[in-house]
Amino acid sequence: MHSIRRPGIDRRSLLAGSLAAAAVFSRGSRGSPAAPVREFTLVAAAGRWPLVGPPYPDTDVWCYNASVPGSEIRARQGDRLRILVENELSQATTVHWHGVRVPNAMDGVPLLTQKPIAPGENFVYEFDVPDAGTYWYHPHHHSSEQVGRGLSGALIVEEIEPLPVDRDVVWVLGDWRLARDASIVGDFGNRMEVTTAGRIGNTVTINGRVPETISVRAGERLRLRLINAAAARIFGLEFRDLRPLIVALDGQPVAPREPPKGRVVLGPAMRADVLLDMSGKPGASAAVVDTFYHDFSYKLVDLAYSSEPPVRTRPLDPPARLHSNTMPEPDLDNAEKHTAILEGGMMSGRGMMMGMGGHGMGWSINGVAASGHDMAPMITLSRGRSCVLAIRNDTAWFHPIHLHGHSFRVTARNGQPTRDREWRDTVLIPPREAADIAFVADNPGDWMFHCHILDHQDSGMMAVIRVA
Ligand code: C2O
Ligand code: CU
Repeated sequence: MHSIRRPGIDRRSLLAGSLAAAAVFSRGSRGSPAAPVREFTLVAAAGRWPLVGPPYPDTDVWCYNASVPGSEIRARQGDRLRILVENELSQATTVHWHGVRVPNAMDGVPLLTQKPIAPGENFVYEFDVPDAGTYWYHPHHHSSEQVGRGLSGALIVEEIEPLPVDRDVVWVLGDWRLARDASIVGDFGNRMEVTTAGRIGNTVTINGRVPETISVRAGERLRLRLINAAAARIFGLEFRDLRPLIVALDGQPVAPREPPKGRVVLGPAMRADVLLDMSGKPGASAAVVDTFYHDFSYKLVDLAYSSEPPVRTRPLDPPARLHSNTMPEPDLDNAEKHTAILEGGMMSGRGMMMGMGGHGMGWSINGVAASGHDMAPMITLSRGRSCVLAIRNDTAWFHPIHLHGHSFRVTARNGQPTRDREWRDTVLIPPREAADIAFVADNPGDWMFHCHILDHQDSGMMAVIRVA
């Protein structure tokens, strides 16, 4: 019923007369007026989904367009998206387009950028996609529970000149806490978890299914777009017998390179585009193992080679670097310097549960545990200013820290310049470590800056950066 409308040129919107047409023509220098508008509909509602598969019953989930993950949104760099969101949930929601540099009013943050979409109501999001890459969408209201029950989906922006590959494959990685009957355990917001690593589940899915094998063909080159859509779980994926090459992080191109120690580490919300040359023989198989939590390694899936003859006999040349996106380069010499200190949680020092004062919140940034209602800006930057933000994790826990509306370069780790100064929108900071990020504050508005372990975000580890 609520099938997603396939992307296509909406010619009606180019005709004069409607407000929508006015929007299309007022795009100014950011794209030609004739750039296609791609229309999608996302219906957020309760549904049932075969997460584990027979003999287990389907799981009651909350999801978009009756599927887990939600319908993939795919566009080309420079397109405009118009996405109608219908809320058929029993509670309010919003949708955030993680990593896409949208105008502030389209950012999907309740109370900060829009009114929550009440049950039975709609909201139309409309924005350009200036940068190619792998992004995703998810609610930004009661995020821990709404994402934890299944609301998320991939948002892929194709390059004008994509890398030549045999297959472009998206893996939305999900993490669930399931009871024996495959139902979701409803213990969201458990104090013990909120103040530690967050709600890590017991069942990992790829594209909404507990995977056993995924079939591949000998000799093929895959572009694997990995999206960590989990509320708290960090992945460290090893592709045994293969040599993964990272070509993009959080949607932004990097010089193709093997991940450190052969392990692709993804904190919640982070993405990696990985090129995989399937170098095994027909009939063979290659395991993908998650070794992030040392004592809890497990096999995620087997890549099973079909018996077909190899696609090619000679390996392909190493890939070229993808064209960079349109990010403005921060001026480090004249940048404004700011600090963000992450505190709170269990075992973080200065008493067992420091940060538990205030409003009973577990976490804070620069001493403030934000509640979602008092969102005074932590930092105000004038538009066009370069900013270096030194983030220090004074806790005993990992935090994937995300900034809305901008991508940033990770310029230093623990005081040492990074080798690649990679662009990201989410930076994973280990316990007691630090990272410097640099960006140009070129997108006006109030932007969330928060931990993407959703229990941490919901319990105070968020702030607002204003670009005035
Ligand atoms: Cu992916 Cu503020 O979120
Ligand atoms: Cu955190």
